Amino acid sequence: MIVTVTLNPVIERTILVDEFKLGATHNTESQTIIARGKGMHVSRIVHALGEETLATGLLAGKNGRFIADQLAQEEINNHFLFIPGHSQENTKIKDEKTSMITEFRGHGPSLEEEDIERFLHHLEEIVHQGDILVLSGTLPENAPHDFYARMIRRVRPLGVFTILDTANSALKEGVIGKPNIIKPNIAELEELVDMTFETEEDIIKGGKVLIQKGIDEVLITLGKEGAIYLSDNDILKITTTDVEVLSTKGAGDAFVGGLAVGLLQGKDTMERLRFASACATASVRLKGLETPTIEMIEAVLDDIEVIELT
Ligand SMILES: Nc1ncnc2c1ncn2[C@@H]1O[C@H](COP(=O)(O)OP(=O)(O)OP(=O)(O)O)[C@@H](O)[C@H]1O
Ligand SMILES: [Mg+2]
Repeated sequence: MIVTVTLNPVIERTILVDEFKLGATHNTESQTIIARGKGMHVSRIVHALGEETLATGLLAGKNGRFIADQLAQEEINNHFLFIPGHSQENTKIKDEKTSMITEFRGHGPSLEEEDIERFLHHLEEIVHQGDILVLSGTLPENAPHDFYARMIRRVRPLGVFTILDTANSALKEGVIGKPNIIKPNIAELEELVDMTFETEEDIIKGGKVLIQKGIDEVLITLGKEGAIYLSDNDILKITTTDVEVLSTKGAGDAFVGGLAVGLLQGKDTMERLRFASACATASVRLKGLETPTIEMIEAVLDDIEVIELT
């Protein structure tokens, strides 16, 4: 099974008004509320691909209950740990005339040391040997930067395979726990290895730093340029294909979701990478955070190549 972790799920409320004016009272044209989070999005992708998934992480208060209910309605199994406080709520006001968006960001719950230990224990209880654990997104504001490393160390002895997709200090300290795979984009890898990339060789050099640190597989996604894969034995380039792009939001999550499904289904490295890129490429053809179907992925799969780099 593919278990995903989202430590910072958010409720996002978008209010549409005819014309937004500071200090005025507005009549709402329409309102949407969605539950968002990177790990949750990976679970949505996995679910759309017909594989079993379980979304976990931290939730709090009535916002937290809304998020869990929303996932349940989408038939996405979830088992979050509830902590005191309230899960974050963001509000966007969209002006219908100009399409301009004004955003208000709330705060997530405050983490206590005992919540950290409770979550590590919760995670140990829900994973099983052979599971793929996807750790995605930012950490809560006051979480220890090595939270992901601690999770990885706790589940590795249970025979769980780990994929880490995060940024900044969560990534820097997360890699110390030696996840099996990391999936930075260019900016995330540049910051991680403290280098600036100008050429493909530079990116490969940056990736090799992580391989030398004991990460089994490093996947660097390059937006419309595809991705570069490094392991002890291989350096591969994965292409994408020219498509009409509606939204690149969550493309990295679609890549990770496809990769995890490929691993679970026992696809070999080349097939798995091709499938992951097809999944991400299919996702950018959709608006917002919509998930691609198998048919949409198959429609681009043949145009994607995996090339050996030396
Ligand atoms: N414009 C595009 N055209 C085709 N494929 C794309 C495009 N942008 C992204 N992709 C696909 O999505 C994958 C991931 O994209 P990207 O490197 O932007 O991830 P990311 O920055 O981690 O995204 P996010 O974290 O927002 O989900 C790429 O490797 C590629 O397969
Ligand atoms: Mg990303």
